This record gives sequence, structure tokens and C-alpha cells, in this order.
Amino acid sequence: MDSLALYIHWPFCLAKCPYCDFNSHVRDRIPQARFRAALRRELAWEAERLGHRRLTSIFFGGGTPSLMEPDTVADLIADAKRLFKPADDLEITLEANPTSVEAERFHGFKQAGVNRVSLGVQALNDADLKMLGRGHTAAEALRAVDLAASIFDRYSFDLIYARPGQTVDGWRQELQEAISRARDHLSLYQLTIEYGTMFARLRDAGKLMPPDNDHARALWDVTQEVTAKAGLPAYEISNHARPGAESRHNLIYWRYGEYVGVGPGAHGRIASAKGRRAQATESHPEMWLTVVETEGHALVEDDILSAEEQADEFLLMGLRLSEGIEPADFQAMSGRDLDPGRVASLIADGMVEYTPRGRIRVSAEGFPVLDAVVADLAA
Ligand SMILES: C[S@@+](CC[C@H](N)C(=O)[O-])C[C@H]1O[C@@H](n2cnc3c(N)ncnc32)[C@H](O)[C@@H]1O
Ligand code: SF4
Repeated sequence: MDSLALYIHWPFCLAKCPYCDFNSHVRDRIPQARFRAALRRELAWEAERLGHRRLTSIFFGGGTPSLMEPDTVADLIADAKRLFKPADDLEITLEANPTSVEAERFHGFKQAGVNRVSLGVQALNDADLKMLGRGHTAAEALRAVDLAASIFDRYSFDLIYARPGQTVDGWRQELQEAISRARDHLSLYQLTIEYGTMFARLRDAGKLMPPDNDHARALWDVTQEVTAKAGLPAYEISNHARPGAESRHNLIYWRYGEYVGVGPGAHGRIASAKGRRAQATESHPEMWLTVVETEGHALVEDDILSAEEQADEFLLMGLRLSEGIEPADFQAMSGRDLDPGRVASLIADGMVEYTPRGRIRVSAEGFPVLDAVVADLAA
């Protein structure tokens, strides 16, 4: 496969949300010009190693990439288009926080070449936004969504559900409102209490009560029901789209394609004659900056994955998709078939199923317990 996706990480946020364990940092001052030059330098270094590959998508993720100056985004897009062979329908997504300050830059991002934005709305009521530690109101977020809709052909927004105290009826209404504001893509994430976050500390102190399993399951069920009825079924465990409007960049990850990462803590997966390479850059922003300024890149991990490791990753990624995986691809990667006994028992339990074209996918019953299903199949 010749095509490649490019991920660019912007590691800064205005404030740290209490649930978030992404590589995001708060700084009084960001030396934007230095970061811009370093991102360009690391991109050029990677392109030199990778050759003139066909580029199908660029994704600016974070952190909060909408805090980048549009000129920084423009330079990186221009570089990527010059250094690689851009596909005619090159998808260029930028993650944005829905505050008014950032929305003011949307025109600049469009001019820079961004053709898809993904907004972190998270909730549509102010009490929950406050609980999530967000720096915007629901009205402000919806204004940013409307503005994105008026500027970009393609936009999506994220909501987090299974929030403490959330009722099924409340979520149903919120989802319906979200769908009325969505064009063709929505990301709906179940709140995960990540180790080391403020939310984990609050939960451990008994001050934050996420829903129990039954209630979380009821919220999951209503999510699937309402989105499917509205023509936005899940194509991935947390991502919903009208057919054809899926995030092409994210599909590369889930289909276990090749991608290169630039910026602090960015990951990549690149095929090589010896096997797939797992790459990662230095994650601490200032450390990353210093290393790139002296070495031209800050790659700190570049390991060839074993056949088993690749096959595990392939399952972990591919089974998130409603299209599932091709068993022959698993065989080619691992050198063995999926264990027929385990497949049979998961099918008997209603957790996985064969598609009419012979692919294996997780069933509607299996998705809420995806991790356990994958662990069982991969064993
Ligand atoms: C990398 S974040 C960046 C988005 C952007 N900075 C923002 O917050 O608007 C991508 C998305 O992951 C989701 N997310 C982050 N932490 C989460 C958690 N602990 N549980 C569920 N979803 C989470 C949020 O919906 C967020 O919008
Ligand atoms: S959720 Fe978004 S804004 Fe909040 S800390 Fe994480 S990356 Fe930053």
C-alpha cells in the first residue's frame, strides 16, 4: 500500500479538562514561531525518510490545534503537499475547541486549506459543561458549530456521555438536539475515567459517581437507537456518520493503514521490509522542541513489531469498526488463523458474527463489551 496519512500534534490547551489524559499542556506563553519552525523541520525530516508517498489525509489533533495561528497551519499544509503527492480529495481535518476566540479563526483555517473541522462540544447543557471543566457555554459551542457549518463542507462535533447524573431521557433529548445540528458526522464518547486525571482522584475520593454498568448500557443503547434512526449509524464504536461521510483519516488507523506523526508525542505506523514500525516522538513539548531544533526530529521510539504484535493491533483497531475485519488479513499478518474454537464460542454467545462477505465483526451485543471480545479473540 502506497498511501499515507499525516498526523500533526499541537500539545497546548487554554486549561486542562479534568477528564483528559491526552498529551495536552497549559502554558502562559507559547513560542509559536519556534514550534512552527520545528514542526516544519520534523515534517521535512520524515518526508525525506519516507519518500514521495501518496498523501490521503492530514489531521491536526491535540491538545487544541485551533490555538495554532492559521499561518502555522497554512505552512504545514503547503509543506505536506509539496513533500508528498497529495491525493485529489486530500482530507484535511483540524480539531477545534468551540470558544468564540477560536471560532474567529475558522476563516483563516479554511484559507490555509483545512476542509474539515471536528469540534469538542462535549455537552449541550451548561451544568454538565461546568462539571466537565469546559471553558465555554452550550450556546457558545452551538454558535461555533453553526459557524463551522457555514464555512466548511465537512464538520463534526464530539459529545461525551455517561456523565455523572445523566439520565436516559436527558441524553435522548440532547442527542436529538445534536443530530439537528449535525450534518453528516458525530463522535459520541462514553466518559472514561482515565488513570491520573482529576476525575480519577475525585472518583477515588467518592466525590464523582460515574453511572453503573446497567445505566451506562442503557445510555449506550439509546445512543445506537437514536443515531441509527436519524441515518447516522455507528461506523466505529464511538463515531457515527452518514455512509460516505466517515473520517477518512481515522479510518486509516482503524483499517491499520500507514500514518506518520509529527509534533510532541505523535505516533506513527509505517510498513517496512522487516515488518511494521511503531514510532513515537518525545512527548514533553519543550523537550521535543529542543531536540528537533538540534537533531531535526524527536523520534524516540522506532521499533519493528513482531507478527503477533501486528496481528493484535490489527484486531484491536479493526474490530472497532462496524465493517469488522478480513480474516485473511489477520492470517497474512500473524501467520496463523484466528482460533476457530474461540470464534465459534463468541458467535454462539452472540458477541461476534460473520458478514455475508465473510468478514468478522463484533455484534450489537458485543460492542458494549468490546475490550473483552478483542482480548478473547486475540488470545
Ligand atoms: C483530543 S481531544 C481534543 C479535542 C479538543 N481539545 C476539545 O477538547 O474540544 C478529542 C476528544 O476526545 C474526547 N475525550 C477526551 N477525554 C475523554 C474521556 N476521558 N472520556 C471520553 N471522551 C474523552 C473528547 O470528546 C474530545 O473532544
Ligand atoms: S479535552 Fe481537549 S481542551 Fe480539554 S485538556 Fe483535553 S485536549 Fe485540552
